Amino acid sequence: MRSLRTTWALLVALALVLAACGGDGGTTTTAGGAAPEDSAPADTAAEETTPATEAPDDGGEAEADGDLVIGVSWNNYNEERWARWDEPAIRAAIEEAGGTYISTDAGSSAEQQLADVENLISQGADAIIILAQDGTAILPAVESALSQGIPVVAYDRLIENPGALYVTFDNVGVGRLMAEVIYEMVPTGNYVIIKGNQADANADFLREGFEQVIGEAVANGDITIVGETYTDNWDPALAQTEMEQYLTQANNEVDAVLSQNDGMASGVVAALEAQGLAGQVPVSGQDADLAALNRVALGTQAVSVWKDARELGRAAGEAAVALAQGTPLEEIPGTVIFDSPGGNQMVSILLEPVAITRDNLNLVVEAEWITVDQLCQGVQPGTVEVCG
Ligand code: BGC
Repeated sequence: MRSLRTTWALLVALALVLAACGGDGGTTTTAGGAAPEDSAPADTAAEETTPATEAPDDGGEAEADGDLVIGVSWNNYNEERWARWDEPAIRAAIEEAGGTYISTDAGSSAEQQLADVENLISQGADAIIILAQDGTAILPAVESALSQGIPVVAYDRLIENPGALYVTFDNVGVGRLMAEVIYEMVPTGNYVIIKGNQADANADFLREGFEQVIGEAVANGDITIVGETYTDNWDPALAQTEMEQYLTQANNEVDAVLSQNDGMASGVVAALEAQGLAGQVPVSGQDADLAALNRVALGTQAVSVWKDARELGRAAGEAAVALAQGTPLEEIPGTVIFDSPGGNQMVSILLEPVAITRDNLNLVVEAEWITVDQLCQGVQPGTVEVCG
């Protein structure tokens, strides 16, 4: 049963690609996964397949709302966003639909997360949302769930199985937004690039976004990358050590830092502070962590890309419920096709990120993401409009 449905999902994904290729570019908003030239061959595969036009009968798998159990496998809660924003939004969407939320925390262990998914299955989960520690290591668990008829949502981070629904932000776009702000401030000079966890596809998506902005300036020598590294587990303490080392190697001659999230930016700024450079060297981040927004107000961080995780959580929770009720992937509202680096056409929901700088901090206040008090701690009067 499940393998039939998986096959069906693949056929439908191909049909969507075929439709997009013949139309005016329904995939254009999804361009994150690959450079445009890499995303072309989709029609080759589609040519060989004649997709059916109707969804197959689900064989009565749909359940009454009240019976639904949705399991969420978290890799950890290290960043503020997961417990503060994502989890409550997912839970609310599930409970509003009459379902039950259950969850596991893998404590940053890819092995544990494999066991966790099996555990959620044995607890009766009708759909599973996974925030993957390692997008490759998790594949057998995803395959196992799908083969048992349990839909999977790849949450925020790509899992290369086109049977899963991929719900995320435009991560290449996040990288581009960070780099645009930093590049405008520092069009020439020495850059350090602090990337996130290598097993998380987002680290490379963000890097791709950087490249789109600074690639040319690096090629022509205007920008020199004096240090670049992945950071295990997006660990802020490790990012601080990395930054300290790059500062030492470069004799403190670092003009800008592209840090891929706010947690690591906190480590970077601490390293700069120790050298009296905080506020002079622009630093990027993402997630709109409360402390990071305060740093933006204080001027020690130039930008935090805000991804409203409340919306992401809601979208994933609602989609998981619909999938558990038997809705086919491509009938989930708002989906587009994302051409993944692994050559999969993922049915995806891709939300838009927003760059937050000193000039538009009002947005996060108006959205009730942060209070003026939290945002403006220690800020000199008259320096940031929203702080007074
Ligand atoms: C997410 C970021 C987060 C990072 C560390 C990434 O996959 O997109 O928002 O900061 O993981 O949790």
